[in-house]
Amino acid sequence: MDVGQAGSAPASDGRGGSVAWEVLLPAASAPARARGRSLQAALREAVRSGRLAPGTRLPSSRDLAADLGVSRGLITEAYEQLTAEGYLRSGRGAGTWVGGAVRAAPPRARDLAPRPPGARADFVPGTPDLSLFPRTAWAAAQRAVLAELPHHELGYPDPRGLPRLRTALAELLARRRGVVADPERIVVVSGVAQATTLLGFALHARGLRTVGVEDPGSPQHDDLYAAAGVTPVPVPLDGEGIALDPLRASGVRAVVTTPAHQYPTGIACSARRRAELLDWARSVDGFLLEDDYDGDFRYDRAPVGALQGLDPERVAYAGSVSKSLAPGLRLGWLLVPEALADEVIERKRTMDLGHPTLDQAAFTRFVERGDYDRQLRRCQHAYRERRDALVAALEEHFPGSRVSGIAAGLHVIATLPQRYGPEERFLTRVAAAGVAVRPLSACAHARTGDSAEVRLVVGYAHLSPARIREGIRLMAEAASG
Ligand SMILES: Cc1ncc(COP(=O)(O)O)c(C=O)c1O
Repeated sequence: MDVGQAGSAPASDGRGGSVAWEVLLPAASAPARARGRSLQAALREAVRSGRLAPGTRLPSSRDLAADLGVSRGLITEAYEQLTAEGYLRSGRGAGTWVGGAVRAAPPRARDLAPRPPGARADFVPGTPDLSLFPRTAWAAAQRAVLAELPHHELGYPDPRGLPRLRTALAELLARRRGVVADPERIVVVSGVAQATTLLGFALHARGLRTVGVEDPGSPQHDDLYAAAGVTPVPVPLDGEGIALDPLRASGVRAVVTTPAHQYPTGIACSARRRAELLDWARSVDGFLLEDDYDGDFRYDRAPVGALQGLDPERVAYAGSVSKSLAPGLRLGWLLVPEALADEVIERKRTMDLGHPTLDQAAFTRFVERGDYDRQLRRCQHAYRERRDALVAALEEHFPGSRVSGIAAGLHVIATLPQRYGPEERFLTRVAAAGVAVRPLSACAHARTGDSAEVRLVVGYAHLSPARIREGIRLMAEAASG
């Protein structure tokens, strides 16, 4: 027993009186029958809340009983009970004190959510405008669902997702993205990230140990494949999408692609390349893994349907509400070819026993009532305006820049004139001015060292036109030294 530590602890509150006295006074005036329990509860709470800090010495039972005007037996009993519970400690001849092991305040959880860097201007891509989240319509959907959902539907759901949601998604994705959608082959997932993990396991189960990934691409998804035991193999792009010769030479039998608006270059995969990729997949008895992460947003180009619609048995298709509603919902969908379906569904079942029912039901209602289409129209309108503001601001403040990938999505690629390079100096200068921006080189698999040319992936969806203009002005000012 660590009497020494307790002996050195303050014996009073520093005001000349016993701390416990004040804390326990209300409990001491409880009705006689409840007085003992009240005293114990008050003492316990005082320790738990930190009002009595670890190490604080309590008065002798005789003194405290006299102070509070209660029998000494009640105090002795309270001390014994709380000692047994670990709140107090006592030693022969050393009195009673607050146990050191009891924490004064509950530990606080750390927040590991990725946050914007708190920059003066933040052009890092990936986040939509979260203030456009349709709170009223979503709250109405949640209320309705809570009122209407039968009790039995609160049990474990179908691991593929609620049948009604899969039906609604099949209609939505066929109509909006030209997907061939059999509701029996849709799996509701917690985002493209989970779809990636499930596909990784399904490929592994078929004996595949490598998967092609676009270079430049999205390195965080590569890690998910690697965790499933499938090694990502970078495959370069050309002007039409994934370059065929390197793909053939890579030896992979599955390749991940973002054909609507390649991440990050913004290239729209050409019709010819789509057909070539499908031919390749058939020739190796393999798969294309289509990530349609921002396919809902296009501005001034004809709609390009999903690759999956051309051959649903060779293409797995994944999408989510992360760009259209909010990434925090963690809600998405995966359409799987028959050859991968059983493994994907079984993995989803063992991973989490299905997606949360209330969220699925709310989203079903949201889609069925046309709220999702309304949300997409609203976002499309806002993002087109922001895209225009960004292109105009780049023209004004970085004359001679080339801007590409602008016809769709939530980011563009800006290639600045030579005079702004090299890249490292540019990035150092703008960072010092409080402007956050990601270079295209950060998405490349092979590091090429400091580039003479500055190529940026500029996200704009989360910024108002005014903030875009001001941010680009700031960037130009900083870049000019
Ligand atoms: C290429 C790509 N795919 C998919 C996503 C979305 O992932 P999730 O649906 O898991 O939020 C992102 C997110 O920024 C992305 O950059």
